[in-house]
Amino acid sequence: MPPIEVKKDIYWVGAIDWNIRDFHGYSTEKGTTYNAFLVMDEKVTLFDTVKKDFRSDLLHHIRAITDPSKIDYMVINHVEMDHSGSLPEVIDTIRPSKIFCSLKGKEALLEHYHRPDWPLTVVESGSELSLGKRTVKFLETRMLHWPDSMFSLLVEDKVLISSDAFGQHWATSERFDDEVDEHELIAHAKKYFANILLPYSNLIQKLIADVKIMGLEFDVIACDHGLMWRGNIGRIISAYDDWSKQLPEDKALIVFSTMWHSTEKMANAIADGIMQEGAQVRLMNLKHCHRSEVATEALDAKALIFGSATLNNGIMPTMADCLTYLKGLRPKNKIGAAFGSYGWSGESVKIINEELAAMKIEVVAPGVRVKFAPDHDALHPCVELGRKVGKLIRG
Ligand code: FEO
Repeated sequence: MPPIEVKKDIYWVGAIDWNIRDFHGYSTEKGTTYNAFLVMDEKVTLFDTVKKDFRSDLLHHIRAITDPSKIDYMVINHVEMDHSGSLPEVIDTIRPSKIFCSLKGKEALLEHYHRPDWPLTVVESGSELSLGKRTVKFLETRMLHWPDSMFSLLVEDKVLISSDAFGQHWATSERFDDEVDEHELIAHAKKYFANILLPYSNLIQKLIADVKIMGLEFDVIACDHGLMWRGNIGRIISAYDDWSKQLPEDKALIVFSTMWHSTEKMANAIADGIMQEGAQVRLMNLKHCHRSEVATEALDAKALIFGSATLNNGIMPTMADCLTYLKGLRPKNKIGAAFGSYGWSGESVKIINEELAAMKIEVVAPGVRVKFAPDHDALHPCVELGRKVGKLIRG
């Protein structure tokens, strides 16, 4: 892909990773991109870099515009290795006079790459850097997604380089939001938010307020993953505002891991009860659904209902995986319940209830257990559990 001009003398020079399918536990079935930006000014400046394996793509794209040795400055908005893994080779090639980063960024760079000779210069929130015709304003965005993260605003151009925020894991030949299907784009952005940024929802609310207070103006959001936003930046900011409030819809999510279909039958009966009360419900069998799809569906669900067969006095491994993952994402404003079949000991419901409590999810029923395979009568408590949850989420 050739370099793309974002605005005059501002170029996308990143890389497209068409084939990545697992991004530290997040299923990236449509790949991703690592976006980097080259600004041609009196001080030629490179913002962000790419994952290690894509360093030649980055340098190839830069060389289509200028000799890398002509780059004066680099800005490192975020040190996670999908953006910094290529730094050792890239810095050796460019040999910039200064590399700008946050204080936490400097610490993380030294702890990752052990190169005290790099010309790291710390910038703070609100500090400005002149590149010649244009000014860069920095905004620290701690924990979005790491403590080192920051935004770089190209003030005169109104381009916000937003690092991980507002990104999507979606590899495309297009680079801007107005070149692709909006519905699919928002779906990817939602999955990205649910799986990466959800634990920092409070900080996103603060960030949106800070951007307004600081009067930052921008009409392009140049995020470091996926498509850049220029057609309707209000759409993604409004979505982030909604998602980070974690206000649920009248929707229940039933997630289950079944051994011989008994727990699956229970899941279907619970769903029947929820539907009888007029609420939405989604069923996800962990044999077929990835944990990151579950996290996406959980984002706007009011009720999370988990079911597992008992296996060796515990829960099914896929359920343990899913609960551990969701717990780390710290979902809020949910109610929950548990169910599961068993043969002789039947610990699964107790274990799931403990996990729900650890997630601070309000457990609204003791849970339903069925020995071996449920018949019509044994499914009745499942329907009743569904009806109870349905009534609660309908308010
Ligand atoms: Fe895209 Fe937190 O790295």
